[in-house]
Amino acid sequence: MGKYFITGQKKIDGSINLIGSKNSALPILAATLLNSGENIIHNCPDISDTHTAMQILKYLGCKVKYQNHTAIINSASLNKFIMPKNLVKKMRSSIIFMGSLLSRLKKIKINYPGGCSLGNRPIDLHLNSLKKLGVKIFDDQKNIICEAKNLKPNTIRLKFPSVGATQNIILASIFIKGETKIINPAREPEIIDLQNFLKKMGANINGAGTNQIIITGVKKLNNTEHTIIPDRIVAGTFLLAAIITHGQIQIKKIIPHHLPLINFLQLGSEINLSKNTIILKAPKKINPIKKLITKPYPGFPTDLQAQFVSVLSLAHGKSFVQEKIFDARNKHIHELIKTGAKIKILKDNSSFIINGVKKIYASNLISKDLRGGAALILAGLAAQGQTIIHDQNFISRGYENISRDLNNLGAQINFFN
Ligand code: UD1
Repeated sequence: MGKYFITGQKKIDGSINLIGSKNSALPILAATLLNSGENIIHNCPDISDTHTAMQILKYLGCKVKYQNHTAIINSASLNKFIMPKNLVKKMRSSIIFMGSLLSRLKKIKINYPGGCSLGNRPIDLHLNSLKKLGVKIFDDQKNIICEAKNLKPNTIRLKFPSVGATQNIILASIFIKGETKIINPAREPEIIDLQNFLKKMGANINGAGTNQIIITGVKKLNNTEHTIIPDRIVAGTFLLAAIITHGQIQIKKIIPHHLPLINFLQLGSEINLSKNTIILKAPKKINPIKKLITKPYPGFPTDLQAQFVSVLSLAHGKSFVQEKIFDARNKHIHELIKTGAKIKILKDNSSFIINGVKKIYASNLISKDLRGGAALILAGLAAQGQTIIHDQNFISRGYENISRDLNNLGAQINFFN
């Protein structure tokens, strides 16, 4: 259990280079299995989730090197189809290995990724879509065994644009002869990045970012080199750190239109954009937001909900935030209330009424998930006194070294592991 000690009310002021996207790196690392050769992935973030993905690749028999944010994966020696239980338990998104292992070895055995603190997270969309491609699925309550002997192309209409299910369908269909269509796929920038990576390998895939993706099977793929897109959620977290401390920040190596800029403007910030840089100046008074509802991309991202709630706790007025992607993404609320934030959780457990207060105060807080933990750090930056955050290594799943980065920007944080 790590502990962050944050002396609050220090202004964030400075410039930072953004890291590569976690949610883009994870499916691309899984996709390196597809070509039985070597791929070089640049800008791969140095976070525990990407290390878990690389450990999985090693366990499955691949050769993996990682240095200076570049991962070199050689999957020619892949020789296992049984996923390592302990690593799958660590990271739910291990299920995206299903698609690439089915393409490469025609089978996979994986334990259920298990419950997660964001609530009920079924994988029915993944499994039903794979079945439509001809995958045979056996399930003994603990493990899922999939076999892909006779795959066939199909049109798969997703009733919800699941990010992971979209990725699994893409990865599973890359060699299937004929045309596979995904109607209503996820449209996140990370899906486009996966498509770009696969195209460089020689895949025939089009439509990522729109409401239909078409994959026409190819016989084989070649080796390639790719640079992961910047992490829009880490960027959003740092922008909010500047806002909550009434500071100013420049973020470099960013793709500004990947962020929900409108919502940062609603808080009253001043934003200046150039091609790969954003400069944000915090408002003197943070504006409340009347209605902020999480939605699939290009809507407001669920992965920034908790961090926005921290900032809105100090807005001048009343805000309403609703979580519509996950059914229990509310654990940070109980912690924020300990700081003096006035937040009410409505009966649905997913709608929050936030009455902005003038000040919040240091407290002993427990981080219960990755983005919820980041939200508590933001609260600590603004609180009067020394906040302690107990964190079971959730935050390092998605942020490289958040205390170092914020300290470089003027914060006062000590981290002990
Ligand atoms: C990905 C992101 C995560 C982000 C989420 C939503 C990665 C590694 N993770 O997660 O950071 O918060 O997208 O933007 O990219 N669902 C089902 N059945 C399924 C699959 C999903 O009901 O088979 C539900 C989930 O329970 C959830 C919703 O659909 O309520 C969204 O899930 P999904 O888009 O699949 O998210 P992930 O891919 O798990």
